Amino acid sequence: MSTAVAHPNIALIKYWGKRDDDLILPATGSLSLTLDVFPTTTTVTLDPHADADRVVFDGAPAEPRAAARITTFLDLVRAQAGVTTRAHVDTRNSVPTGAGLASSASGFAALAVAAADAYGLDLDEQALSRLARRGSGSACRSVIAGTAIWHAGTDDATSYAEPVAGPALGMVIAVVDAGAKAVSSREAMIRTRDTSPYADAWVRSTADDLEAVRRAFARQDFTAIGELTESNALRMHAAIMACRPPIRYLAPRSVALFDEAARLRAAGLAAYATADAGPNVVFVCRDADVEAVHGALAERFEGDRLVAAHAGPGAHLIDGAHLIDGAHVIDEVRS
Ligand code: PMV
Repeated sequence: MSTAVAHPNIALIKYWGKRDDDLILPATGSLSLTLDVFPTTTTVTLDPHADADRVVFDGAPAEPRAAARITTFLDLVRAQAGVTTRAHVDTRNSVPTGAGLASSASGFAALAVAAADAYGLDLDEQALSRLARRGSGSACRSVIAGTAIWHAGTDDATSYAEPVAGPALGMVIAVVDAGAKAVSSREAMIRTRDTSPYADAWVRSTADDLEAVRRAFARQDFTAIGELTESNALRMHAAIMACRPPIRYLAPRSVALFDEAARLRAAGLAAYATADAGPNVVFVCRDADVEAVHGALAERFEGDRLVAAHAGPGAHLIDGAHLIDGAHVIDEVRS
């Protein structure tokens, strides 16, 4: 039995679009911060007597589609390990699933690390990142602690995330709506590629943004990082909104929160807004400013759930997890 913990990551330069849907090779590289909030804990237990995998999400049997996605992923691990043994997978999410709060990133990063260990694979961080990518693209970045760059690569071996050095960053998440999104990012990426007239421009300009943000990281230029982050998110949403039929993830409240970032900057607090495939808005700031940004937002947006976050650990195994009637009791963290 192997248990792993992983945290969501939020991209500053977004991954939106695949060049290979099967291998999950992205159209461009991306860059993110793995957070220290909303962990996912996943236990994988091999069951030599079972003829099918058993998947439990937050104490209840997973829906058939979600369970099938886990089995497809485990098949990759089993192929690498050269075995066919089925498994019991038990996952606890503390992030609302499917709400654009990166639950698939923490979910598949935790599953990759737990499953690799359970099936006896000895994988380094790069190989674990590649494996997590096959479950959900952004999961390859949650294998890495803190800021990570996902190299687009040209094949399975060259598409992985690794740490990138730069200024210490923090985030404040404004949870506008924790409900599941209407269109999955998987489906929306395909629709963007197939129907958005801005899809090619998005890919071209994001490759440029990634290079610019890498240079900004190297010279510790937070202002440039923030400006590129906010602009890149809006470009992604512009490309998505231009799909037919249209997809619009940003709610009126989300747009108001982008205005709020501008207001904070005008008041001398360097914060920039970004949003994934959902209505929730994430404020990116210097790590030292997280509490000040959280406080300034709390004054004006009482209704929203605001969560302060700092750089978090990469996906890792933990010790001493006991599966008792489907419930975990975690005694001790190993790393
Ligand atoms: O990994 P997926 O399929 O959940 O896609 C994530 C896409 C965004 O969150 C919108 C952007 C990103 O880079 O994380």
